[in-house]
Amino acid sequence: MKTYSIGVLAGDGIGPEVADEGLKVLRAVMADEGFACNFIEYPYSGAYYLKTKELVPERVIDEWRALDAVFLGAIGHPDVEPGLVERSVILGLRFGLDLYINLRPIKLYAEHMCPLKGKKPADIDFTVVRENTEGLYAQIGGILKKGTPDEVATVTGVYTRQGVERAIRYGFELAQQRAADLGKPARLTMVDKANAIRPHDIWTRTFAEVGREYPDVAQDHAYVDACTMWLVKNPEWFEVIVTTNLFGDIITDLGAMLQGGMGIAASGNLHPGKTSMFEPIHGSAPKYAGKNVACPLGAIAAVSMMLDYLGEKSAARRIEGAIEHLLASGAIPSADARSGLSTTQVGDMVVEAIQGVKLYSAQRVG
Ligand code: IPM
Ligand code: MG
Repeated sequence: MKTYSIGVLAGDGIGPEVADEGLKVLRAVMADEGFACNFIEYPYSGAYYLKTKELVPERVIDEWRALDAVFLGAIGHPDVEPGLVERSVILGLRFGLDLYINLRPIKLYAEHMCPLKGKKPADIDFTVVRENTEGLYAQIGGILKKGTPDEVATVTGVYTRQGVERAIRYGFELAQQRAADLGKPARLTMVDKANAIRPHDIWTRTFAEVGREYPDVAQDHAYVDACTMWLVKNPEWFEVIVTTNLFGDIITDLGAMLQGGMGIAASGNLHPGKTSMFEPIHGSAPKYAGKNVACPLGAIAAVSMMLDYLGEKSAARRIEGAIEHLLASGAIPSADARSGLSTTQVGDMVVEAIQGVKLYSAQRVG
């Protein structure tokens, strides 16, 4: 039987609770889909740092490279200096494994979950391809004369031709793939801010050059400020968006709200063909930690993305189908801590829906 080695970083706050539900669902599908998983747990988190002062050691990053995938719950602890553990674990994975694509699908499963008036599931179904190893996240910069009136802070955005091109190429391929799979128009929107930040011109030019190889994909460009406006006004215009690291970070929180909240949004940090990492896009939400109220659907959707990446397409589709069914039918009324369902109940419902033990139908509500 095919056995995958999966690294698990449950992390902080609600991370362990939602990760448990993701793994519960994974265990439920793997038996009848004919594959197995070996889970290797890693303790790195803010809580672990407070206890041991240990961040992710270099040798562990080497170890991760040998796994099939990594699954992460959430990282971030209120008692640790902001960003310290996030940079070590999340950016450690992204940079250490050269996970140059952050794939963030934005899909509305039930009309009532969308805060925009009159938008239906067919209107909100696009994917953001966020460049994941460069830009303002490259950690080039620093602070001089800190805390004095002469303090100077600098940060350099890094955009390499190779880094920009591989993200854009991935965007084009994905646009073609979605067109073939979903029968929707092949369209790619590239988002930068080249009017004010002139070096972003490398994005504009690379997009135009690479775009000549994809005449079947409609090509569109938006500055990031306008993009946020269109995302609210006409989200149905978007199929695939490719953008810089920071802009991708920002617009995908907006995207998560369009699909019903941070509790449902998932992401894949990919180096196509190599070990990749999958995580819900929400943080550790310390105020909900240990209460069994956080929504695990983002983590469960991340498991579905991980299985899809590993080639377990049927298992991935079954999980996504169960999520869609439970949300569209109203059996799970919302993807947040106020759904009236506990974290573990939501996990159980997804498992039951997958196993077909209980069928939630649209007639069940109303
Ligand atoms: C995300 C998060 C991270 C990011 C943080 C936790 C470093 O916001 O995955 O979107 O900025 O990329
Ligand atoms: Mg973010």
